[in-house]
Amino acid sequence: MKGRFYVVGVGPGDPELMTLKAVRVLKKSPVWLAPAASKGGSSTALTIASGLINGEQKEILTHHFPMKKVHAGKPTDPDVEKAWREAAAIIANHLEHGRDVAFPTLGDPAIYSTGFYIFETLMESVADMSVEIIPGVSAIGATSAAAAVPLCLGNERMVVIPATFEDEKLRDILEKFDCIVLMKVHRVMAKLVTILEDLDLLDSAVLVERTSLADQRIRRDLKVAATEQIHYFSTMIVRKP
Ligand SMILES: C[S@@+](CC[C@H](N)C(=O)[O-])C[C@H]1O[C@@H](n2cnc3c(N)ncnc32)[C@H](O)[C@@H]1O
Repeated sequence: MKGRFYVVGVGPGDPELMTLKAVRVLKKSPVWLAPAASKGGSSTALTIASGLINGEQKEILTHHFPMKKVHAGKPTDPDVEKAWREAAAIIANHLEHGRDVAFPTLGDPAIYSTGFYIFETLMESVADMSVEIIPGVSAIGATSAAAAVPLCLGNERMVVIPATFEDEKLRDILEKFDCIVLMKVHRVMAKLVTILEDLDLLDSAVLVERTSLADQRIRRDLKVAATEQIHYFSTMIVRKP
């Protein structure tokens, strides 16, 4: 019998934010393949999972996925596609030998996660694949909780955007919605702060760096933050009064 593939959301950093199901699935899966952002680098998802689960008896692999933009509806960068295919081939081999494979992923698998690309790549090559996606606590909810700022109440409308992608649309989106969650903000803080100031929204914005981790920072001094090197794990919520 073939093994089962699990994409497991491990939450934003604090291992206590992993779900009971994520912990159970990771415990029982003999193989983990975890994403790493740099070649030979560590995997944040793996670090989170290892905070609660002893991996000594497991085969734990890390796989580098280049941090290059993937645009919906446009051809994918060949390096990125190659990494997906290589990871899928390794996973497929374990599945064919009857071993379950878990792919721990930061936050929730449904939100900007490589897990879904691997799942789709595997579906192309493995017949009758058995797969389960385990949702996780996203950085979005964790940022809202850390800053004690709700995301949407009553009839409010919320939007989630990757700040690095939306150059010309940012202003329009910030004007249209009641609550705007900006992810991947670390490289575009200066531009964001200028737009927020223009729209008189600077006081409505909060930035949380490394949400739920020991060195978490909740920042409302966005003009100062924009002059510093903020962490890649940073999420901003702009909630209109
Ligand atoms: C590739 S996306 C992954 C999102 C993840 N799947 C989720 O559900 O949170 C990476 C972005 O998530 C956000 N992020 C992830 N972990 C975070 C954390 N601990 N604190 C703040 N933001 C975080 C940042 O905006 C970062 O640029």
